[in-house]
Amino acid sequence: MERIKDSNCFSLGSIERHMDNEIVPLRSSRDVKLFDQWAATYDQSVLQRLLFGPVHSKMLDLLVRELKDPRCCIIDVGCGTGRLLRAASVRWPEAQLFGVDPAEHMVSEASRLNPNATFKLAWAESLPFPDQSADVVLSSLSFHHWRSQTKGLQEIARVLRPGGLFCLADHTIMLARLFGERVKSRNQIRALIVGAGLAIREQQRFGLRLVLITLAQK
Ligand SMILES: C[S@@+](CC[C@H](N)C(=O)[O-])C[C@H]1O[C@@H](n2cnc3c(N)ncnc32)[C@H](O)[C@@H]1O
Repeated sequence: MERIKDSNCFSLGSIERHMDNEIVPLRSSRDVKLFDQWAATYDQSVLQRLLFGPVHSKMLDLLVRELKDPRCCIIDVGCGTGRLLRAASVRWPEAQLFGVDPAEHMVSEASRLNPNATFKLAWAESLPFPDQSADVVLSSLSFHHWRSQTKGLQEIARVLRPGGLFCLADHTIMLARLFGERVKSRNQIRALIVGAGLAIREQQRFGLRLVLITLAQK
């Protein structure tokens, strides 16, 4: 397995950019612009306390049973300000931590708040990591924004080492489709993950059953 190069010294002027030139559907680029504007106050949002924080804890609780190597490599896709990676670093202080997000200000906030992790400006659909380089890929409440969930999951399967784990949390509120979100049902998420070549280990509802957490393995 090729180990990922980790500079550990991220500066705002040197965001590693991996934005490809494919045409981004209007909806995705609009989402990313909104997240860009939200980045400075994102961590103060009431949603963090009520939803995101508890979802992050639940994801890490599921993983702690499985992840024994303290020096594992963890990638968070759609990392926002990197709160999930901050929580992961408490449980695995020696882990190599990476975050990816297409919203520039999210990435710069994440870098400021997480000096021990490396952040890259990139889409889930084109991950800037070598094949079989990650022990764990996480993604929390980002999946319904991806312009191609199929491509994103293929990328995650590519960067995971054999036996590596993928933990996905996303809401399943179908009404949100009315607002253009690409929300998927429990069965659709299963089918997409299996289609990317990963095996489902378990799925759990959480947060008034509005969030589905899926643990899968390569
Ligand atoms: C609701 S926020 C969640 C952030 C973080 N995962 C958390 O739990 O706090 C959704 C994030 O997904 C990112 N995002 C949107 N489209 C994406 C894509 N195609 N690939 C990766 N991330 C994307 C947004 O920029 C935003 O930071």
